[in-house]
Amino acid sequence: MVSQESPQLRQLVYISAAARLWTDEELAALLEQSRRRNEAEEVTGMLVYSDGSFMQVLEGTPESLSRVCDSVFDDQRHRGLITLIDQPIRERSFGGWSMGFARATRQDLLGLPGGNDFFAGGKCLSDIGSGEAKTLLAHFRRTNP
Ligand SMILES: Cc1cc2nc3c(=O)[nH]c(=O)nc-3n(C[C@H](O)[C@H](O)[C@H](O)COP(=O)(O)O)c2cc1C
Repeated sequence: MVSQESPQLRQLVYISAAARLWTDEELAALLEQSRRRNEAEEVTGMLVYSDGSFMQVLEGTPESLSRVCDSVFDDQRHRGLITLIDQPIRERSFGGWSMGFARATRQDLLGLPGGNDFFAGGKCLSDIGSGEAKTLLAHFRRTNP
């Protein structure tokens, strides 16, 4: 029987620490550059920046994802990358976005559902695990159409 499934897709979520704090202008330039390349590679996803920490979800075919990730993981502007999720997916969660973006302050994170329990204990974006990352990304996807 011929498979009806779309070509294999992967989703990758990582957190990292910015080498230094980023200005709005630097973030805007990064997004413009990323969107251009991601569109060409048919990579979709979202980047969250919070007080010097990044969280990013990237989706695409294994080949395109590995080309983009080779650059991203090698980028000296952030470090301490930890992959939280790397899994095959049936469909994209961020299909419409070559790279969505949300900037979150500590206050924003505290205000998220369950955020007070987690972030009030002094934790920050770079302390989250895969379950919390999924919840956070789903929230930002809903609130940043
Ligand atoms: C936190 C962070 C996220 C990034 N996300 C992307 C991305 O989604 N797509 C992309 O093409 N480049 C992204 N970049 C930029 C790449 O690291 C790299 O500078 C760019 O792709 C150019 O790659 P090249 O120098 O290998 O040509 C990101 C960089 C950082 C620091």
